[in-house]
Amino acid sequence: MKSALTLEQKYDFYERSVQNADSEVSFMNDEYQRFYGHAPYTMREDFCGTGAISCAWVQQSKDCEAYGIDLDPEPIRMGQQRHFAKLTKAQQQRMRYLQENVLKTSAPKVEVVCAFNFSYWIFKKRSELLRYFKSVRKSLTKQGVFFLDIFAGPESQKLITDTKKLKGLTYYWECQHFNPLTHDCTFAIHFKDAKGKKHDNVFTYHWRMWTMPELRDLLVEAGFSKTVVYWEGDDEDGNGNGEFAPADDALNCDAWVSYIAALT
Ligand SMILES: C[S@@+](CC[C@H](N)C(=O)[O-])C[C@H]1O[C@@H](n2cnc3c(N)ncnc32)[C@H](O)[C@@H]1O
Repeated sequence: MKSALTLEQKYDFYERSVQNADSEVSFMNDEYQRFYGHAPYTMREDFCGTGAISCAWVQQSKDCEAYGIDLDPEPIRMGQQRHFAKLTKAQQQRMRYLQENVLKTSAPKVEVVCAFNFSYWIFKKRSELLRYFKSVRKSLTKQGVFFLDIFAGPESQKLITDTKKLKGLTYYWECQHFNPLTHDCTFAIHFKDAKGKKHDNVFTYHWRMWTMPELRDLLVEAGFSKTVVYWEGDDEDGNGNGEFAPADDALNCDAWVSYIAALT
């Protein structure tokens, strides 16, 4: 059924449910500093959608520059209204949306590239993902880091729906299909608005669910010198506390999200 949400609601609901641009910017900054002992200034946000992270990036200092890359003009247009328009003139001059394919972007070399919310899972063939990782590796400066995220755990492969209640909004994350032989999968986002009206399949993703060891091997094959995996800590109830630290081993809990940093 077609969603009756306005475009403003669609992207407002999405960002409130699945994004936290400020915490992602500070995570990338802290980790980059830990690796190289100084702050990064240039960042490329692949699959940027509304470019929330890029707009947060350029607000850090007058030396920060960002490039947001997305194929689709709709989220770019919404990002220009939601985030870019709120930047100062000087900040706007340091942030550019590029409506391009991440595989063929015209963005210059940067110190940091990020690909969040699992967007690179659109590359289902090993050769395609390797090509993407190689192109990211080439686009980084000598002291560069590529940050990406991944989710997994036994629950993430079951046809179930996760629900999260927010202020005036319910967010649903549904696994609609998972093929254990190929890891082809379909996930969908639904929302219930403040009036109790449900909007189904507002976003739908057809992906391959890549595993952590596959990704780490591919990143090294693409030319990265090493990868660091970040595991989330627990709160008092045993749920994720939103704080990620480097790890080499972990408990395979029901569903988990993790970050990977790949260094040049
Ligand atoms: C899951 S959304 C992610 C948005 C945002 N990065 C986030 O963290 O929420 C995936 C985005 O990737 C874009 N996309 C898909 N394939 C792409 C490609 N080859 N090059 C650039 N953008 C692409 C889509 O248009 C969509 O906006």
